[in-house]
Amino acid sequence: MSASIPATLAPSENSEEAGFDAARHEAFGQRVVGMLNDASLTFMLSIGHRTGLLDAMRRLDRPAATHEIADEAGLEERYVREWLGALVTGRVVEYCPETRTYSLPAEHAAWLTRAATPNNMAGVMQFMAMFGKIEDHVHDCFQNGGGVPYERFERFHEIMAEESFQTVVAALDDYVLPLVDGLVESLERGIDAVDVGCGRGLALMHMAGRFPKSNFVGYDFSNEAIEWANDEAARRGLSNIRFEVRDAAKLDDQGRFDVVFAFDAIHDQIDPHAMLAGISRALKNDGLFLAQDIRSSSHLEKNLEHPVAPFLYTISTMHCMTVSLAHAGCGLGTCWGEELALKMLKEAGFHDVVVHTLEHDIMNNYYVCRKQ
Ligand SMILES: C[S@@+](CC[C@H](N)C(=O)[O-])C[C@H]1O[C@@H](n2cnc3c(N)ncnc32)[C@H](O)[C@@H]1O
Repeated sequence: MSASIPATLAPSENSEEAGFDAARHEAFGQRVVGMLNDASLTFMLSIGHRTGLLDAMRRLDRPAATHEIADEAGLEERYVREWLGALVTGRVVEYCPETRTYSLPAEHAAWLTRAATPNNMAGVMQFMAMFGKIEDHVHDCFQNGGGVPYERFERFHEIMAEESFQTVVAALDDYVLPLVDGLVESLERGIDAVDVGCGRGLALMHMAGRFPKSNFVGYDFSNEAIEWANDEAARRGLSNIRFEVRDAAKLDDQGRFDVVFAFDAIHDQIDPHAMLAGISRALKNDGLFLAQDIRSSSHLEKNLEHPVAPFLYTISTMHCMTVSLAHAGCGLGTCWGEELALKMLKEAGFHDVVVHTLEHDIMNNYYVCRKQ
């Protein structure tokens, strides 16, 4: 297979047109070629994460030949060698032609390996590979409307749990829970808490382990995620937690919980208004709703300087918006934004909302919400 890539970035046939900026044309051409290379590396890093190759190179921690790296990872040498070709030319791995050895610099390993958690960006690259698998369906939606339902996304809950382990679980004790004065103390004394849209429930399991006097329940509409979560909670011997298959738009709890959590679970809802109203009803009058959701503005022009805006709009097109539209939902989109979030929270009865950001987390806002 080959692709059509211009041999030179010479002026195009449009270059004679009035107002056509040749320098801008060339600079953008360079950028587009860069996009192709970097997009290619996302797939290679995803493979490197899944196969354990990046971890194997970190473990070796020295220049090694292809067969040594393949042996360390337990993989086929020919594939490993080709993969290394991409990573060497992509300046991720270093190559010594004299000894024919490859090494992963420690500074790169600190962003690309499991040992680097919560900074392991190679795990995040798996989203790109996942999106590639559903491109045909999304292409169809561009033409015919509708959306791609959750069930079509293979490995979604596995990849999501890995990602949120880094952003949420790893930050819970030191950053997230301390955002609310007295929350840790209440959890220590013993309260009732629910996580809506909990996925595999790792955040809740972490809290259940740390706060044995509190009771935790996790809701998600994915059978697969809830089954995994209940098995894992049992494996960990947690008796103060359970997970239930529930549609977040149909919560029927009344004044039952002291705390409701929603980690990255509002913007892709089919009916986020109903979800927020249900959460408000499910809370005791003096209860707390702590929601983590994507940090962005509701206005496109204000997201221009957002460090990962293209990634967010891509995730939205390929997942968050389409899973909602698949069920004729409102399709808020990943960048629904703080302005709209505050409006919707108020409409749901949260009259006291404080927005927090965490220095290490460029992706999320943390909404601390109370009804009174
Ligand atoms: C982006 S994932 C976040 C999962 C989890 N909170 C985490 O941080 O890993 C959103 C979750 O919301 C769940 N979800 C989406 N719509 C739902 C609905 N209507 N009712 C219950 N769960 C829903 C999905 O199954 C998914 O697990």
